Amino acid sequence: MNVIAFNGSPRREGNTDILLAEALRGVKERAGSVTVYQLSTLNLKPCLSCGHCDDTARCIIKDDMQEIHERIRSADRIIVASPIFFFGVSAQTKIMIDRCQSFWAEKYVHKKPVTPGPFGRKGLLLLVGGMKRNGKNVGFECSEASVRAFFRTVNVQEHATVAFDNIDEKGAIIRHPTALSDAYKAGKLLVAEIPEGGSNK
Ligand SMILES: Cc1cc2nc3c(=O)[nH]c(=O)nc-3n(C[C@H](O)[C@H](O)[C@H](O)COP(=O)(O)O)c2cc1C
Repeated sequence: MNVIAFNGSPRREGNTDILLAEALRGVKERAGSVTVYQLSTLNLKPCLSCGHCDDTARCIIKDDMQEIHERIRSADRIIVASPIFFFGVSAQTKIMIDRCQSFWAEKYVHKKPVTPGPFGRKGLLLLVGGMKRNGKNVGFECSEASVRAFFRTVNVQEHATVAFDNIDEKGAIIRHPTALSDAYKAGKLLVAEIPEGGSNK
């Protein structure tokens, strides 16, 4: 089973980092190893909207996204973790998502969607925002819409979302009554179909 995770926060040991680590603890009980991409440390240029992928189904930009494209192609489970920045996902997360326009072209223009493996393809979205919202949280809604579009483009058939508001100070997520256990459980659930003692193939 191939599991990949994207950490879209530039703050090391921040809230997204901590939440993702807990989810991965749940994942690793079954899935063995996971590849985590710390997006802020990679060389990722934004989409140029050049149209090259409409013609070829491949991205013309040569940077760290080539490896990510290949890993997405073979992934059984994909985790996206992001802080809310200005009511959406972080720029680091959004650059990675936009660079998946080549998958969009592959699926909708070239009619060749990436095919899930024997475990299907599922996703998990982790979000943390600093603002306190009672009821509607526009930051979560906008982020959900972007990541849902990404997941559907790369043929993630279903995903769960775990989101926490009112978490601002670095590390504050640790004091939340349920966040860490919720993330851990969501990670476990993500790989629940893998047989006990799990395969990493
Ligand atoms: C540039 C920037 C923009 C932000 N915009 C929002 C926002 O629109 N809504 C919100 O709830 N929190 C916002 N925040 C707060 C972060 O989401 C919050 O501090 C979060 O816990 C950061 O997670 P991290 O520690 O993983 O980086 C913003 C923070 C930064 C640095």
